[in-house]
Amino acid sequence: MRLKPFNTFSLNVYAHRVATAHNEAQLFMLWKQALQMNRPVLLLGSGSNVLFLENYTGIVLLNRIKGIVIQEDAEAWYVHVGAGELWHDLVTYTINRQIPGLENLALIPGYTGSAPIQNIGAYGVELQDFCKYVDIIQLDNGKKIRLSALECQFGYRDSIFKHNYRDNYAIVAVGLRFSKFWRPVLNYGELRLLNPHHITPRQIFDTVCTMRRNKLPNPKIGNAGSFFKNPLIDTKTATQLLTCYPDIPYYPQTNGGVKIAAGWLIDRCKLKGYQFGNAAVYEKQALILINVGHANGSEIATLAKYVRDYVADKFAIWLEPEVRFIGAEGEVDAIGALS
Ligand code: FAD
Ligand code: EPU
Repeated sequence: MRLKPFNTFSLNVYAHRVATAHNEAQLFMLWKQALQMNRPVLLLGSGSNVLFLENYTGIVLLNRIKGIVIQEDAEAWYVHVGAGELWHDLVTYTINRQIPGLENLALIPGYTGSAPIQNIGAYGVELQDFCKYVDIIQLDNGKKIRLSALECQFGYRDSIFKHNYRDNYAIVAVGLRFSKFWRPVLNYGELRLLNPHHITPRQIFDTVCTMRRNKLPNPKIGNAGSFFKNPLIDTKTATQLLTCYPDIPYYPQTNGGVKIAAGWLIDRCKLKGYQFGNAAVYEKQALILINVGHANGSEIATLAKYVRDYVADKFAIWLEPEVRFIGAEGEVDAIGALS
């Protein structure tokens, strides 16, 4: 079956089968069926963070378990969300119900079930700022487990789900907590221009939507958002780099080290608009690679390798892909694929 509608790079790849699960029992049953057929399984939301390098021989399982349940006490709202709710719909739903918190995370593509995996973040806010727990099903035995936020080991574009639980689990729900003592987060980019004393969650939501629509590619252009993570470097290296390039955007981290803008590094290599086959570095934001026509996964990967090698050559920094690479049998090591 065609995977083109299920990956935002819009790559014309195929899977043996695509199946949709609307509840936990279905998910577990479909997984067992795949095992009986001796096929690998790939859980997918909207495919906005994956790069298919070739056709996938297994079953793609779309997790569409829905439902939003809200409870509250004097201090907070507690929102239990099915993995199959679209993230931006959840943001809109909470803002419409006067539950503030997610406004900075508006317009991030994908499903709620995928959000904890890389601890989605934008404009100074991350999922971990609200996440109370993540419910998973271990697919080899059908057991349901609730992981606390602490157990999820959230980090910048990272969580336990990228490490310990790799192939045999599905996220089925996410629990969020929103304090009733709301404080706007206005420390990123153009949000700094807003007046913290006269701002509403709705105005931040609208501003974030406008900024994202101006900066990010129209969804008709195949892409997966930032292709690489912003690198974390130690303070000594950062000081040396800043001496040579004082205009590098950088963000000192509370736990030591400095995060620097990978988009700026690629931009400084003059790679904006650089094209390889049908893959290109996006003109308006160098951290985004796009499919300009009928690109295949290996063209995108070849361009990514070129960009990564170029940046390493100029700045001695090796960028790490944020996007997950999927081969014929399942996920493959992205750095290995670019080496
Ligand atoms: P998919 O791409 O479908 O899956 C991602 C990974 O999670 C895969 O490995 C998949 O196997 C696994 N997976 C999916 N669902 C489940 C499940 N239920 N259980 C277990 N494993 C599962 N990200 C940000 O953090 N911040 C941004 O600002 C941002 N902006 C973006 C802008 C654009 C234009 C695009 C295209 C992407 C952007 N992203 C951003 C990346 C992407 O939106 C997020 O990573 C998102 O959470 C991916 O959701 P998805 O449902 O599409 O996941
Ligand atoms: N920059 C350039 N040239 C470029 C791109 C960026 O000079 O071509 C500079 C910008 O001027 C800015 C800095 O780099 O000073 C950072 O750029 P931007 O604000 O666009 O953010 P980013 O670091 O490139 C990150 C996330 C995005 C998220 C935005 C907003 C990562 C890998 N990416 O991008 O997330 O939306 O911040 O918070 O952390 C994603 O993960 O897919 C994604 C889009």
